[in-house]
Amino acid sequence: MEKKTLCGLEWSGDFKVLDEASFMKFANEIRKKMDFDMSGYKLARMKRRVDFLMRKYNFDDYSEYLRVLDKDPSRQKEFFDRITINVTEFFRNPGKWERFKYYISEEMKRVRRGTIWSAGCASGEEAYSIAIILEELGALSSFRVLATDLDPNILEVAKRGIYEEKALVNVNSSLIAKYFEKLDDGRYQILEKAKHRVTFKRHNLLSDPFEKEIMAILCRNVVIYFEMDAKEELYKRFSRALKPGGILFLGGTERIFNSRKIGLEPVEPFFYRKV
Ligand SMILES: C[S@@+](CC[C@H](N)C(=O)[O-])C[C@H]1O[C@@H](n2cnc3c(N)ncnc32)[C@H](O)[C@@H]1O
Repeated sequence: MEKKTLCGLEWSGDFKVLDEASFMKFANEIRKKMDFDMSGYKLARMKRRVDFLMRKYNFDDYSEYLRVLDKDPSRQKEFFDRITINVTEFFRNPGKWERFKYYISEEMKRVRRGTIWSAGCASGEEAYSIAIILEELGALSSFRVLATDLDPNILEVAKRGIYEEKALVNVNSSLIAKYFEKLDDGRYQILEKAKHRVTFKRHNLLSDPFEKEIMAILCRNVVIYFEMDAKEELYKRFSRALKPGGILFLGGTERIFNSRKIGLEPVEPFFYRKV
């Protein structure tokens, strides 16, 4: 069986290997047509995902796939779903959320109003988890939760705020009773009292401007797809966006090397404080 090396990976099997230069042209067209720039992402990972879709439809080259994407919104949706992994749940890694609650309550002794940003919020569970914590601390009306994602389809799901039971596995029954309504089909609708302070917005972390004076930023399980340079630049921008004392809360596999250099004090694994 023929094997080729591409983007540092060995490709083999019964599908056509499409070359890297053609993929770069494809990526350039996607940037123009769909306002999605793949340049900060790990190229091999992106290409693998796109090539999976190409194989699914037996397309021979990227221009054929581009033509279909151009004409068919359902294929565009599928494209976004495939390249952006939207897996999430309420209070993902519950122990870390206890720590987040602690840091926020400490910060609230100094700061009475502000914004908490869920950056890469996917279907909204993270943003609504923040809103629930704020309401539990009696402070939701003084704070705003900004929730952003690149993927416009997933933001529609987030705005609806209706979830399968499995998304609530880390939510205890008293919080479920307080913040959700069980629908006839067995799913759960987040209630307005947690929803009304959350604003969802399409935003690209690699290219769009950031708000300033943010009290806390959660960016969890997003940067795993980014190239090292893009990641480093992002952390610098997060640092500039935070108020002094503000908290940056990262995902379970993420870490900032030399964070002090960019004004972020490591507080404990996955938490940094703006100096
Ligand atoms: C795995 S989800 C993480 C959801 C949530 N933060 C969590 O930890 O449960 C990753 C999200 O990052 C989003 N994303 C990927 N690249 C992005 C970018 N450049 N700007 C904003 N969001 C991005 C994806 O659309 C996806 O919804």
